[in-house]
Amino acid sequence: MTVLRTQVAIVGAGPAGLMLGRLLDEAGIESVVIENRNRDYVEARIRAGLLEQGIAELLEAAGVGERMRREGIVHHGIHLQFDGERHHVPLSELAEGRTVVIYGQTEVVKDLIARRLDDGLPLLFDVGEVSVEDFETARPRVRCVHDGAPVEIQCDVIAGCDGFHGVCRPAIERHLRQFSREYPLGWLGILAAVPPSSEELVYAHHDRGFALLTLRSSELSRLYIQCAPDERIEEWPDARIWEELQRRVALDGWSLAEGPVLEKGVTAMRSFVCEPMQHGRLFLAGDAAHIVPPTGAKGLNLALGDVALLAHALAEWFRSGDARALESYSAACLGRVWRAEHFSYWMTSMLHRFGDDPFERQLQLSQLRYVVSSSAAARSLAENYVGLAAGPLGAAGLDGLVAGAGLVAVPR
Ligand code: FAD
Ligand code: DHB
Repeated sequence: MTVLRTQVAIVGAGPAGLMLGRLLDEAGIESVVIENRNRDYVEARIRAGLLEQGIAELLEAAGVGERMRREGIVHHGIHLQFDGERHHVPLSELAEGRTVVIYGQTEVVKDLIARRLDDGLPLLFDVGEVSVEDFETARPRVRCVHDGAPVEIQCDVIAGCDGFHGVCRPAIERHLRQFSREYPLGWLGILAAVPPSSEELVYAHHDRGFALLTLRSSELSRLYIQCAPDERIEEWPDARIWEELQRRVALDGWSLAEGPVLEKGVTAMRSFVCEPMQHGRLFLAGDAAHIVPPTGAKGLNLALGDVALLAHALAEWFRSGDARALESYSAACLGRVWRAEHFSYWMTSMLHRFGDDPFERQLQLSQLRYVVSSSAAARSLAENYVGLAAGPLGAAGLDGLVAGAGLVAVPR
C-alpha cells in the first residue's frame, strides 16, 4: 500500500477541487487531489461558461487567469426575449459597472490542471474505491485505489469537492439537513461551430419553452432549449434541434445562423442545499454541497466562491491555529449560496414553460414586463446576475480575498 501524508486531501478535480489546490499552494499549504475520472474526460466535460467579475478576478489573483484574460469575452449586458420582442438589460449600468466573462468551464479546468502539473503537485486521475474515514478525529484519511494498488492519504483535513454524486456528502449525511427541489425540466445543450448570432446572451421565454443563446468564442456558439428532464438525446437529430431553436428565438429582422453540432447533451434540473457544509474535519465545497438550476449561471461561480472561503479559513488555521474562520466556513458560504439559490429558482420560474396553465403564463409575462420596464426590478436582476447581491460575503468577501487578505503564506 502507498501511504501519502499531506495537509489537505482534496476529493474531486472539478473546478472546486482544482482551485482549492491552487489557492492552498499559494498559501504554502500542501494538498493531494484525487479524481475518479481520467484527465481527458475531465477536460472535455462541457458545462458552464459564465464567470462573475469577482470570480474572474479570483482566478487572476490565483495566477490562473492569463488565458482567460486573453480569450475570455467580457459582457456588459444580456437580452430577455418574450412576446416576440427582445429587450436589453444593461447589467453594468445597473450594477456598479460590473461585468461577467464568458470563458468555458472546460478552459478553467484545463488551466488549473496545467498549472498543478507544471508546479509538480500531486494530482491522481482514474482512482477507484474512494472512501473518507476518521474525519471526526485529528487524523482523517482518504483511501482509494490507483494503478491497481491501494493508496492511503493521511491528512489534517478532507475537502469534499466531488460534485453532487460524490462520496463525501453521503459520508456525513446523517449530520446534515438537506433541502431540495426537483423541476419537471431539462436543458438540451449543443456546442456548434458557428459564430454567435447575437453578441450578448439571449434568454428567451416562449410558448414552446425556454431557449438560451450563449457562446464560447467568436467561432463557437453554445445553445440550449428547455426539454423534459429525461429527454432522450437520440430523439433529437441536429435538424430537429435547430428547428426548435429557430422557433423559440425568432425575431423580425434577425436570424439565427446554423452550423455543425460538435457536442450535445441533456441536463436535468434541481435545486439542492445541505446544511451545514462541514462535519468534523470534512468540508464540502461546490456541487457536493449545493446545486442550482443553470438558468442564473451560478453553479460554477458558487463552487469557486466556496473554495476561496475555505482556502482563507484553512490558511488562518494552519498559520495560527485560529479555528474561527474554519468553524464558520459553512455559515460564511450559505449566505451566498441561498441568494444564488433564490435567484436561480426565480429566473427558472420566470423563463420556462411549466405546463398549460394560462394563469401561470400571464404571471410570467407580467414579471418579465416588470423587469424590463422598472429600473428597480432590472437592477435586482443585474445585481444578482453579476454576483453583487450575494450579501456581506459576496463581492466584498471575495474582493478581500482577491486583495490578498486570504492568501497568507504559511511556512511549510
Ligand atoms: P464538479 O464539476 O461536478 O466536479 C466534481 C469532480 O469530482 C468531478 O471531476 C468528478 O468526476 C469527481 N468525483 C466524483 N466522485 C468522485 C469520487 N468518488 N472520487 C474522486 N473524484 C470524484 N452551471 C452553470 O452555471 N451553467 C451551466 O450551463 C451548467 N451546465 C451544467 C451541465 C451539467 C451536465 C452539469 C452536471 C452541471 C452544469 N452546471 C452548470 C453546473 C456547474 O458545471 C457546476 O456547478 C460545477 O461543475 C461545480 O464544480 P464542482 O467542482 O463543485 O463539481
Ligand atoms: C451559460 C450557461 C448558463 O446557464 C447561463 O445562464 C449563461 C451562460 C453558458 O453555458 O455559457
